[in-house]
Amino acid sequence: MRHLAHVLVLSAAISFAPTVRAQSASDALYQQLGGLPGLVVLMDDFMVRLLGDPRMNPFFKDTDQKHIKEELVAQFCEVSGGPCRRKGPDMRKAHAGIDVSKSNFNALVEVLQQSMDARGIPFGTQNHLLALLAPMHREIINAP
Ligand code: HEM
Repeated sequence: MRHLAHVLVLSAAISFAPTVRAQSASDALYQQLGGLPGLVVLMDDFMVRLLGDPRMNPFFKDTDQKHIKEELVAQFCEVSGGPCRRKGPDMRKAHAGIDVSKSNFNALVEVLQQSMDARGIPFGTQNHLLALLAPMHREIINAP
């Protein structure tokens, strides 16, 4: 009887654990970033810094900044495991009309880190988000 109870408990653990773990792991980063309100505040700050950074200002000064912020919020929400689904053009199309070099890419990442620092986002959380964004360099960098 004790053995049966163990088997039942064990099989319940096996059948439930993956779902529970997948759910909590999947939106953990999103929660650490403060959910949607946290991302909105982060992107507001990020755009101010992009415009204030002499390396980035030429890229962003004449764009629809409100639109880009909304797209970034949706994108960061989605990649961090939140409930959003971004519907805008893919990263290659979105940057096709702009010459983006590796050093431009690195500079943008640096400005994003400044924003995350200013919001008090822990270093580990920052690195987790950056690791998810990093592979996008293949679609975004299109100039020497
Ligand atoms: C991980 C890095 C990056 C991510 C995740 C990212 C993401 C995005 C997103 C989501 C949009 C909005 C596209 C739309 O739906 O219309 C966008 C637009 C834009 N991005 Fe990036 N981007 C990155 C790197 C860069 C870099 C390095 C530059 C240049 C320095 C850049 C310049 C721009 C510009 C100028 C636009 C506006 C384009 C337009 O007005 O149509 N991005 N980006």
